[in-house]
Amino acid sequence: MPVPRPIARDARGVIPRGRCIGPLAESRVGRNPSLEHIAGGAGRHRTEADRANTETFDMILLTGGAGYIGSHVCVALLDAGLDVIAVDNLSNSNKQSLERVQSICGRSPIFRQADIRNEEAIYEILRAWDVTAVIHLAGLKAVGDSNLRPLTYYENNVLGTMRLVSAMNRAKVKTLVFSSSATVYGMPAYLPLDEKHPLGPTNPYGRTKLFIEEMLKDLYRSDDDWRIGILRYFNPVGAHESGLIGEDPLGVPNNLLPLVAQVAVGKRERLLIWGNDYGTPDGTGIRDFIHVVDLASGHLSVLRYLKEPGVLTVNLGTGNGSSVLEVVRTFQAVSGRPVPYEIGERRAGDVAICYAAPMLASKALGWKSARSLEQMCEDHWRWQLKNPDGYRGARF
Ligand code: UD1
Repeated sequence: MPVPRPIARDARGVIPRGRCIGPLAESRVGRNPSLEHIAGGAGRHRTEADRANTETFDMILLTGGAGYIGSHVCVALLDAGLDVIAVDNLSNSNKQSLERVQSICGRSPIFRQADIRNEEAIYEILRAWDVTAVIHLAGLKAVGDSNLRPLTYYENNVLGTMRLVSAMNRAKVKTLVFSSSATVYGMPAYLPLDEKHPLGPTNPYGRTKLFIEEMLKDLYRSDDDWRIGILRYFNPVGAHESGLIGEDPLGVPNNLLPLVAQVAVGKRERLLIWGNDYGTPDGTGIRDFIHVVDLASGHLSVLRYLKEPGVLTVNLGTGNGSSVLEVVRTFQAVSGRPVPYEIGERRAGDVAICYAAPMLASKALGWKSARSLEQMCEDHWRWQLKNPDGYRGARF
């Protein structure tokens, strides 16, 4: 891995404008002659001469690269001196996020609009850019929606991953980091949830994650050249401290923090808290919220770990639980805005308490989350305030 390059930033972690390069993707034209191929032209593979003219670098293919988590992972990778080709079908993301990544990092990822189900397109990208590893985040993720459209979830998540991995196999790129979810544990039989906890997701979305995990383990059993990291995310929240990138949900958000933020900024009248009769100190659900920047750095740690073949399955959480009411109070405190709420019925399928045992990540990867709930709320709030309508109506 290359040594991280020191980059001057302002107090918010942004590269001063004058230092930015751009526009997106064009920044690499000089370095890789096959850009026209990536841009959708007739194209050709990189020749040996091309390869000889290109300095050595690690090129990471990031699927779902324009999304909420993808854009933050992209920053972590670029900041570490790696090169990134972000692939996204833009079904639930906005390419602007990657323009913002460029402002933060001072250099840009390559962007390619493509769908992971298109094996040939992925294969071409892997070959043309000498990709060394893939971080796979692309997928559908709304639990309720997955109950209504299970086949769409199986197609995008399971079939999409099959095609991606198949393209990797053909291109002999055998290092993969996969974004799974703590949802694979289902109803907790004990807490905190360690990686040995029995698996039993309660909805189609969760089952797609579990089936993919199993598929990847089978792949390794069949070919022990593979290096695979499976990351079980807990509840990612917050945003980059610059306020330039963050979560931009399409329509009504599904998760707690974006809803709280929208109430605080006045886009919604009140939050509906789904139940206050759980067996928790204040009666509301408890979750392990993790700052998205900490989560992103976990991807880098696992990439560094994957020097040897094998499969590592690891939780990415803080190990601390916070209740819904604690989140609401913290958000009110950091934003200085009221967050009116109402207590409603429990949401079907919700568990009372869910938090991670984060020890394996610390032992195997030397990774720990560092940011507090206050910081998660502060950063989420800055993003919301600067971008009340997400990437579509930015106030910069
Ligand atoms: C949800 C998904 C889970 C996914 C995770 C992270 C469900 C059942 N589970 O988990 O599969 O991995 O997001 O993306 O959807 N809450 C309210 N009012 C709201 C929204 C949420 O009270 O309007 C409460 C919930 O009841 C829960 C907590 O806030 O107690 C967190 O909810 P949410 O953000 O949806 O995350 P999870 O339920 O943990």
